[in-house]
Amino acid sequence: MSFKDQIIAEKLPLHVAIIMDGNGRWAKKQGKIRTFGHKGGVLAVRDTVEGAAELGVKFLSLYAFSTENWKRPRWEVDALMELLVDTISKETKTLMDNNISLQAIGDMDSLPPKCRRQLQDTINITSANTRMTLILALSYSSRWEIVNATRKIASQVASGQLKPEEIDDEVFAKQLCTSFCPDPELLIRTSGEHRISNFMLWQIAYAELFFTEKLWPDFRREDLFEAIVDFQKRDRRYGMVNEKQSDDQHA
Ligand code: IPE
Ligand code: IPE
Ligand code: MG
Repeated sequence: MSFKDQIIAEKLPLHVAIIMDGNGRWAKKQGKIRTFGHKGGVLAVRDTVEGAAELGVKFLSLYAFSTENWKRPRWEVDALMELLVDTISKETKTLMDNNISLQAIGDMDSLPPKCRRQLQDTINITSANTRMTLILALSYSSRWEIVNATRKIASQVASGQLKPEEIDDEVFAKQLCTSFCPDPELLIRTSGEHRISNFMLWQIAYAELFFTEKLWPDFRREDLFEAIVDFQKRDRRYGMVNEKQSDDQHA
């Protein structure tokens, strides 16, 4: 039975997030430069986005460029930004054909103007689409986002709009870039690295983590389906006890 056939529609995660990693190693394995791997990753993005929409996932977040990635060599950063503009422009049709809207999270002001414009254009064009929201994390890091949220809350307190005792999870989450979507239930990272690299630290408090050895350019919708099948077998307790196990012990 294929992974897709094993997926239980009623238990589908509403929001899946992916740390797309391993482009450089994929290129190196073939004796090519790192940017070849980034180009190779575009096909993986298209297939995964279509696969997620086909299943009925409502939000798909892709970590495409971190705040720390600015520290990479200039030629690689420039090539990544070029690729981004080019891909978003070419994939606008795929998003329209699949009824998918685009959103971006991160420090948009730090992106090159051309990139910001293309992103905003596609966000506007796709804004009425309802099947799925694709969230691109660009120039994003979780600590940046949390510090930013704290600043906004602090200024509301300073101006008397908010009392310190009114600050709770909900008030805080409203100031994050992800205030428009639910927290991811499933976080996937490719390339065999077992770390979070500053991605959605607040939002993944209770997400299930799935790590795969696959390098991002080799990732396809079947790999997403495999991760979802694995996710659906897990017992999510949120700090409580499983009712069945607890009843058995008291019997
Ligand atoms: C992920 O692939 C893409 C970005 C972080 C932009 P990498 O470029 O990190 O590839 P590896 O991890 O060096 O193989
Ligand atoms: C994480 O990958 C960031 C993105 C996928 C955009 P990195 O390759 O930058 O992370 P590290 O350096 O392995 O932690
Ligand atoms: Mg990497």
